Amino acid sequence: MMTDLYDKIIEAQKYLSEEFKDKPETGVILGTGLGGLVDRMEVIQSIPYRKIPHFPVSTVKSHKGALILGRLSGKCILVMSGRFHYYEGYSSQEITFPVRVMKALGIKQMIISNASGGINPNYTNGQIVLLKDHINLIPDHPLRGKNDDRLGVRFPDMKEAYDLGLRKVALSSAEEMNYSLEEGVYVGFQGPTLETPAEYVYLHNIGGDMVGMSTVPEVIVAKHCEMPVLVLSLVSNVCYPPERIKETSLEDVIKVVGDASPKFCDLVEKIIGRI
Ligand code: HPA
Repeated sequence: MMTDLYDKIIEAQKYLSEEFKDKPETGVILGTGLGGLVDRMEVIQSIPYRKIPHFPVSTVKSHKGALILGRLSGKCILVMSGRFHYYEGYSSQEITFPVRVMKALGIKQMIISNASGGINPNYTNGQIVLLKDHINLIPDHPLRGKNDDRLGVRFPDMKEAYDLGLRKVALSSAEEMNYSLEEGVYVGFQGPTLETPAEYVYLHNIGGDMVGMSTVPEVIVAKHCEMPVLVLSLVSNVCYPPERIKETSLEDVIKVVGDASPKFCDLVEKIIGRI
């Protein structure tokens, strides 16, 4: 089965290497409502996921489904416009296939983004938070099964899953923008329901600052294949303490994220220019 995964990665990588007219250095995964970054890019090519061998297809309508090759801040980047989630029915291994392909394409680092619920009482809606660590509560681990040593080691160390060098670049970029960028711990929860008030309290108590339904499997696989990652989360709904919880729909999340998106794009543009 794992030999199979390796072969699939190589097939996807070969297809994309032949298609691409430039060589991307940084990979970007865009979270809910953050597609605005693509409008700032000089797009070279957009390749629908369905054309790429073995790529899953996004089933969430707020997520597009294309790999976009282009230039931003003078750098060649590869953007995943639309990602995959465990709640869609994919395994964590399937969700993280694109990260493996990015590695095989020679991409040097990744910037991952998401929308999240804020379980740090000091956070406000629309705030951007830099991830320094995570707690994985998604029931399926992306590395479960026989390990293929060509892809990474059996027991990856997770002391520094969020690359310190990239975090420093993010912090100094934010400082230049006079933006106070907090660092926090993200909890990966399976979804698709948002959390109950009791669950938000629990997630706060175990040390979480944000909760969301993505990112953690991607970060684990990035660590497995030794790809440095930077993650920025946009807090779309504050939910701690419980008095702050409001009923929240996807439209509410998209509205808060959309309003904060210019600031997020400014920050990402600056970071890309410096890495
Ligand atoms: N919980 C989980 N995922 C989320 C939330 C939330 O409150 N907000 C945005 N994504």
